[in-house]
Amino acid sequence: MELFLKIVSPIQSYDFQTFSHNLLLTLPASILIGVILFFVLGAFVGFKSKEQRIYIVGATTIVISFTAAFYNLGVPLETLISVYTEWLHLIVRWVHIVVGVAWIGTSFYFNWLDSRLERDDPDFKHLDGYLWSVHSGGFYRIEKLKGPPKSLPKVLHWFKWEAYATWISGFVLLILVYYLNASSMMLGGSGIELTPLQAIIISIGLLIGSWILYDYLCKNALKNNEQILIGIGFLLFVILSYFLTQIYGSRAAYIHVGAIIGTIMAANVFRVIIPAQRNLVTSAENKVTPNLNLSIEAKNRSIHNNYFTLPVLFIMISSHFSFTYGAVNNWLILAFISIAGILTRHYFNLRNKKQYKFWILPSAGLIMFFLMTLSSLSVFEKKDVDAAISLELVSFNEVENIIKYRCATCHAKNPTFEGIEAAPKGVVYDTAQDIINNIKLIKAQAVDAEIMPPNNLTGITKNERETLRVWIEQGAKTNN
Ligand code: HEC
Repeated sequence: MELFLKIVSPIQSYDFQTFSHNLLLTLPASILIGVILFFVLGAFVGFKSKEQRIYIVGATTIVISFTAAFYNLGVPLETLISVYTEWLHLIVRWVHIVVGVAWIGTSFYFNWLDSRLERDDPDFKHLDGYLWSVHSGGFYRIEKLKGPPKSLPKVLHWFKWEAYATWISGFVLLILVYYLNASSMMLGGSGIELTPLQAIIISIGLLIGSWILYDYLCKNALKNNEQILIGIGFLLFVILSYFLTQIYGSRAAYIHVGAIIGTIMAANVFRVIIPAQRNLVTSAENKVTPNLNLSIEAKNRSIHNNYFTLPVLFIMISSHFSFTYGAVNNWLILAFISIAGILTRHYFNLRNKKQYKFWILPSAGLIMFFLMTLSSLSVFEKKDVDAAISLELVSFNEVENIIKYRCATCHAKNPTFEGIEAAPKGVVYDTAQDIINNIKLIKAQAVDAEIMPPNNLTGITKNERETLRVWIEQGAKTNN
């Protein structure tokens, strides 16, 4: 226990006796809350089992009593909340990735399955198709029926929770990372200035509004015109990306494009695909013909989702690549990368239909290459911003001062910036060595992409960024 406390306690001079004393004091209240929770949970359908309720209540009691004991030990509530939020962020992101992998995995799998079914076997004319596969220790034979089965099986798997869980965890992430830190994580658009509350309201409005517009276009306006739908859909996507970079900071803008498409994908499952499947199942139960229109619409939405996956997955990893979201024309970069992703998906979809249009892949590759060269051009252009500075040797003292006042208020072992409890991403600039060790990241985040400080909260000037750049170019010496 003592060792455990030493490891987890955020303060060094903990006192084991006080801690256990506190823990004992807080236990009765925590247990009381747990007992109340036990009965409250009993009211929900999902928690009828006594065992489940006891586990949840036990875990909650431990959480409450430990939190209270740490609080009594002198760890401020703000620290506890901010550390808990960070961990919650970790857990939710982990869940989001896992369920997202499961969702996209099943979606890719069924697409592939449909394309590989053996449909021409004369001995199996009663089937739509079948397929043999071997995987981890067994042979599998999958059959696709032409219509519904004569009687429905007892257990029928649906594949819907992957989609819902991905959306729910994604929305919780949006709250944890962006809504709760709106002023640093959301604001900073290059056009319109917003307050944090406005930024959050617009975000929620866009998530809902985009789905309504998309659904309307698919159902009514452009119902029978797939090509125009794709064209207008992509145009709206580009306008949306541009608009978002005008109102939000660049990272938030990218993530919102992803969140909006992700919402459309999940809503496609919830509002169109699953209802169509439900119709199939109830029709089979009642031995009536299913509503064919529902099935066709569901298939369309499923294809849309399939094409959305690559752009959305890029956006999810984009936060590791500041040269994309941090670039001047970040919305254009997003548009072109999305085209490359959609083309790649299209190539594989055609290949699954045994149409080999190989030219598509090199085209997608060329788009990426085109972006690479443009990207190097913008880095090159920056060098001419202020030629006057380049002539003088930049002193390290000057650099240290910029970092100290513009960065180290957050990026220090003990940050002084309000609301920052620990150095973000573990990036610390306390000493000269810290600065030297981090030169590449400083250049990427504060010089090339200009995304640090977030929303320029510490007011770094253009000239200061330029000074950093020139100092790095002059060899990043500490003895100037
Ligand atoms: C207001 C506080 C604040 C200031 C000031 C600030 N940063 Fe940051 N920094 C953050 C936060 C928050 C993150 C984490 C963002 C995220 O979640 O990816 C971060 C992340 C970083 C990262 C890691 C990026 C990554 O994805 O690995 C670097 C490098 C960085 N900042 C450099 C700087 C530099 C250089 C400056 C000064 C020019 C600076 N920061 C000023 C808050 C700040």
